[in-house]
Amino acid sequence: MDLLRDVVVLLHIVGFAVTFGAWVAEAAAARFRATRAMDYGLVLSLITGLALAAPWPAGIELNYPKIGVKLVILIVLGGVLGMGSARQKRTGEPVPRPMFWSIGVLSFAAAAIAVLW
Ligand code: HEM
Repeated sequence: MDLLRDVVVLLHIVGFAVTFGAWVAEAAAARFRATRAMDYGLVLSLITGLALAAPWPAGIELNYPKIGVKLVILIVLGGVLGMGSARQKRTGEPVPRPMFWSIGVLSFAAAAIAVLW
């Protein structure tokens, strides 16, 4: 059970890596677009995060305020990505720059909270 939980944590971190990595790739290439990879990473973070939010194996203690804050960040991030993608489709232009930067900042903030809180 412990190993299974560790595997789910690993997949949870992969979700973050995919979202943040896709964002860094866009920034480095100066494309500034919201991409499918960011969405997929976020969905993986959400599914694995919800699985980890259940107290298993028995006796484990979870920091629910921290989990709640990360869930809120993830929902806001999902909203920004959704609006950004819709706008990109409509205009053909990259997402507005403040929206693009907020994707990276929110994703990084969620990881920082996970590790530092
Ligand atoms: C973009 C959003 C998120 C990021 C970047 C993120 C990142 C991380 C990272 C790096 C860890 C491993 C470090 C640690 O164990 O403290 C972690 C653990 C965890 N995350 Fe997230 N997370 C996100 C969203 C969520 C959501 C939405 C939930 C639940 C609804 C969640 C639930 C958890 C739980 C329960 C753990 C602890 C695992 C354990 O110690 O057994 N996370 N998260």
